[in-house]
Amino acid sequence: MSSNPPGVRQTIVQLLSHMRDGKEIREYLHRFSGIDQERFAVIKVGGAVIQDDLEGLAAALAFLQTVGLTPVVVHGGGPQLDTALEAAGIETERVDGLRVTRDAAIPIIRDTLTQANLTLVDAIRNAGGRAAAVPRGVFEARIVDEARLGRVGEPSRIHLDLVGSAARAGQAAILACLGETADGKLVNINADVAVRALVHALQPYKVVFLTGTGGLLDEDGDILSSINLATDFAGLMEAEWVNGGMRLKLEEIKRLLDDLPLSSSVSITRPAELARELFTHAGAGTLIRRGERIVEADSKDSLDLARLDALVTKAFGRPAIAGYWDALTVDRAFVTESYRAAAITTRLDGWVYLDKFAVLDDARGEGLGRTVWQRLVDYAPRLIWRSRTSNPVNGFYFEECDGAVRRDDWTVFWRGDMGPTEVAGVVETAFALPPTLEAPQ
Ligand code: ARG
Repeated sequence: MSSNPPGVRQTIVQLLSHMRDGKEIREYLHRFSGIDQERFAVIKVGGAVIQDDLEGLAAALAFLQTVGLTPVVVHGGGPQLDTALEAAGIETERVDGLRVTRDAAIPIIRDTLTQANLTLVDAIRNAGGRAAAVPRGVFEARIVDEARLGRVGEPSRIHLDLVGSAARAGQAAILACLGETADGKLVNINADVAVRALVHALQPYKVVFLTGTGGLLDEDGDILSSINLATDFAGLMEAEWVNGGMRLKLEEIKRLLDDLPLSSSVSITRPAELARELFTHAGAGTLIRRGERIVEADSKDSLDLARLDALVTKAFGRPAIAGYWDALTVDRAFVTESYRAAAITTRLDGWVYLDKFAVLDDARGEGLGRTVWQRLVDYAPRLIWRSRTSNPVNGFYFEECDGAVRRDDWTVFWRGDMGPTEVAGVVETAFALPPTLEAPQ
């Protein structure tokens, strides 16, 4: 019967919890399991991934049911359709990126997508997962422009009965992009358009794109870890190195996120990295959120000190010493709208001194810490700060600094274009500062 009886699920969750990132994995499992399962995630799989990495894909999707999660999967079948249509002697013609679909192509599209659907469902089952084949019955569509595009449909209504019934049975619903008009004519729906309509109807917590590349690439061809649309979108759309394909992708993702609650996010990753992307803060792939703006202040007046205090207490696991906020003279503060990440500078012997850099764990996963850090160092090309030797963020600080001195419990860091003799004085002053947080336990 069930391929994941409760005992097995428990064992796997236990095993996961003891991995290096066990605490994070537990947190995410808890968070994802708390959502209505048809709203946990919509996962889009391109036809190329089914063709090139079926086993990896099936294993990644089966793993989710093993831990009790049932995503809704939408797949395309581009390469499969190209091959099948060519074999049938039907030329592939595209207008505005849409596959022109003449009547003669419909049976081939139906059979090919149904075949791709069943191939994926079988592979998931063979990998020990639970999947329900839903090659059609979800997308009701209207024909967009029959003269120009033929039988290309645009979703007009989403029927969620099959999706809900699969989720209740603990199965991942596997959907193909086949639509039907109200009077039962089969139509071809572009996969991005289908995903958009489904996401609108389900309002999922995660939208995941499984691709071969495993993320959006930066200038150097490395995967961009996170994008905060509120602060990064305009810049990316203008950047020279962002090509047309990536621009379209970003616009499409912005469109998806604008239609979702702020807590939802999009991840692009490859099948083999799906678990790491979903269950760790750092992830493996590109995480995109609608995000939040960063508020900049040059005095305490416009800051909510109670919220800052709560942030510091939670981020460091201990509160600021009594009177800290009263005594504070802010030079600059960079705070995200939600008060989940902040950097506060003061002046020390005239230098910009980073007095607090506090980031909540989940905000770190979203890349908010990095966004705040970037704003900070743009503001202060020369910066001094210190941290306790036990601070888990020190690895990041050593990467970011241009120099550091460690003495007993403290390390003082500096960054910017300055020599050791120039900073010697302020480094001493920083070492001599009294602690600003209660002592660690
Ligand atoms: N596990 C979290 C999520 O899926 C955070 C992922 C972070 N990923 C990244 N590429 N920065 O929502």
